[in-house]
Amino acid sequence: MNQSKGEVRPIFPAGAVVRYQNPVATEVPLDGLEFFPNLGSGTESTSQDRNVLREQRFGPIAAFLEDCVQDYLDNVYCYRYERFEIVHAWVNRAPEGGYQRMHYHGNSVVSGVYYLKADAKLSAPLIFDKPELNTQPYIAIATREQTIFTANRIAYPSATGLAYLFPSQLRHGYEMPTKGGQRISLAFNVMLTGIGLFYKL
Ligand SMILES: [Fe+2]
Repeated sequence: MNQSKGEVRPIFPAGAVVRYQNPVATEVPLDGLEFFPNLGSGTESTSQDRNVLREQRFGPIAAFLEDCVQDYLDNVYCYRYERFEIVHAWVNRAPEGGYQRMHYHGNSVVSGVYYLKADAKLSAPLIFDKPELNTQPYIAIATREQTIFTANRIAYPSATGLAYLFPSQLRHGYEMPTKGGQRISLAFNVMLTGIGLFYKL
């Protein structure tokens, strides 16, 4: 990006995506987990009404992700709340060639994904779409290069032991067919309680 002569500041960004690295990315056996096909994608998931993080085998990952959530809420968004809870957590398994259409998560404030098995060079990256609200005709100005102010789509690599946290309303997915064998991720949603009175918005 060219250097501006002025002081450039992003104004009202769509949200913060924060990447965390698990220092002990141990493998978790998935034996006995039941997987169901996802409509409109080449990926299968464990049931969404099941919180896999409550299972003992995911204990160390649950502790790591709770630490990430607390950092995200306290140090990135600086929310005031009494308590947070990871209310849903499920495992997604994409075979070679699998993909996940763009979507967002409801009934959730913060969402995240943790890669149980992914290869930064081969596995499909996590893609986010810029939120758009077009209620008027719009003008599309071609750009010489993408900047954070003009990009409509951004991709982050998926790799074993990485977690990304993001606001639940952000559209995301991995639309390009994944390569290099199975891509296995654990997705989760977070809700808050004690977030204050509605007239204090
Ligand atoms: Fe998702």
